Amino acid sequence: MKIGVLTGGGDCPGLNAVIRAIVRKGAFHYGDEFVGFMEGWRGLVEDKTMPLDLSTVGGILPRGGTILRTSRTNPSKHADGLQRCAENLKKHNCDALIAIGGDDTLSVAQKLFANGVKVVGVPKTIDNDLAGTDFTFGFDTAVNVATSAIDRVHTTAEAHNRVIVVEVMGRDSGWIACYSGIGGGADVILVPEIPFDIDQVAELIRQRHARGRYFSIVVAAEGAKFAGGAEMHDGAPVLQDVGRDEFGHLRLGGIGSVLAREIEKRTGFETRSVVLGHIQRGGSPSAFDRVLATRYGLGAIDMVHRGEFGHMAALRGNKIISIPLAEAIASNRKVDQEILDAATGILDKLEEKADKVS
Ligand code: F6P
Repeated sequence: MKIGVLTGGGDCPGLNAVIRAIVRKGAFHYGDEFVGFMEGWRGLVEDKTMPLDLSTVGGILPRGGTILRTSRTNPSKHADGLQRCAENLKKHNCDALIAIGGDDTLSVAQKLFANGVKVVGVPKTIDNDLAGTDFTFGFDTAVNVATSAIDRVHTTAEAHNRVIVVEVMGRDSGWIACYSGIGGGADVILVPEIPFDIDQVAELIRQRHARGRYFSIVVAAEGAKFAGGAEMHDGAPVLQDVGRDEFGHLRLGGIGSVLAREIEKRTGFETRSVVLGHIQRGGSPSAFDRVLATRYGLGAIDMVHRGEFGHMAALRGNKIISIPLAEAIASNRKVDQEILDAATGILDKLEEKADKVS
């Protein structure tokens, strides 16, 4: 078979491991040929391709980014975009397409499938919030980067008697915030799932310092929201002052510095903030992500040969299975309650204490 491959949306460590697994198993086991469509859906819309064979995937396993490059191009926003995707697949004699991406990329894959294109998806998001799969590759690497940053921030916060707010990625869900916050021993963890009361956060830090601690670490997902009040962003996420991308997403960012200001104002403790941003997405994938990404790639090429189009490789328990793309894009996967409980355990205690006093 001849198979097109693309990577779309924000990059994350492990993309190259997926591509390598697809090409190696495809070439060695099935005798497949490949064509790489570059820069996400832009490559299919504009017919930008690169050779994809055993030599191009040599040595890419430990490399971050994606040799196919990526973009947030949405074919539906370009004249005849979806039709051009189908035509360019035909032009290159592709029998099938493997699209590696998050909910945006996979929603385009689903549209193409509905129009008769033979497409298989591979789930990708650093945020780990794609429905239908337990973990996406790249998440573990991001958590490791964020956890070691929190460890470093701990020592400088301790040396200076400071509160430090660490802003991590997580647009709609707080997986990175919870895992890195729990792993790094943060004192407060704020996630998009639970709007927070800034006075309660300040009180929590005051109480901790009253118990003799003289520094605190707050981890906030970029999509965490103040519980309300116009002055406090009225329950909306803090945004960078720019427009939307082609999928309609606003660019988040800045909650760390807003929080630092508000915490210092309320507690009188000197407070700083750091934004980890794209550092979490860059660099070499962890061993866990290399293995997971490889398994996704192997799963996807097998699905192509079993004719499971309109489906995505997914991790359930410790097995790679095949699920409908429609299931993966239907909703956004929030952090499990048990993990939220672990991350917000201290806040719960504060509430209990307030109940007991009243
Ligand atoms: O969707 C994944 C993500 O990493 C989000 O956490 C973040 O808001 C966004 O991508 C950043 O996107 P960009 O790379 O386009 O700035």
